Amino acid sequence: MQRRIFLHAAMLACAMPGIGFAKSGQPVIEVFKSATCGCCTQWVDHLRANGFKVKEKNVPNTAAYRTKLGVPASLGSCHTGTIGAYVLEGHVPAADIKRLLAEKPKAKGLAVPGMPMGSPGMEVAGEPADAYDVLLFQANGKSTVYRHYAAK
Ligand code: CU
Ligand code: CU
Repeated sequence: MQRRIFLHAAMLACAMPGIGFAKSGQPVIEVFKSATCGCCTQWVDHLRANGFKVKEKNVPNTAAYRTKLGVPASLGSCHTGTIGAYVLEGHVPAADIKRLLAEKPKAKGLAVPGMPMGSPGMEVAGEPADAYDVLLFQANGKSTVYRHYAAK
């Protein structure tokens, strides 16, 4: 059983495509998530509602993609995405992804570590939203606050 899972993961890794672009020229967000992750699907819905094209890839082990795509372990969340050469870790708001594409900073990508309540895809009716930071992180693991969201 272990071996089958390993082979499956290896095949998926080999089949991982490069940078995807939609026909319009707008970059496509590719998301590596587990098939059973509800909040991941809600984040994908949030991206689509904000005009992004999204390709969902259900994978057995999201951590392998996190490592492969260079996300520091300390910034990990439930899913990892790519847009162009940038990496998106966790429940990053669409507005910050648009800013990233507009400003094109020298960075590896954006991360919302953990799964803060109230971040896109993590809204629960009646639950207060946590304060959280969207981090701009570098290949060397260093990060700075790209945007702070206050608690609600
Ligand atoms: Cu999540
Ligand atoms: Cu997720």
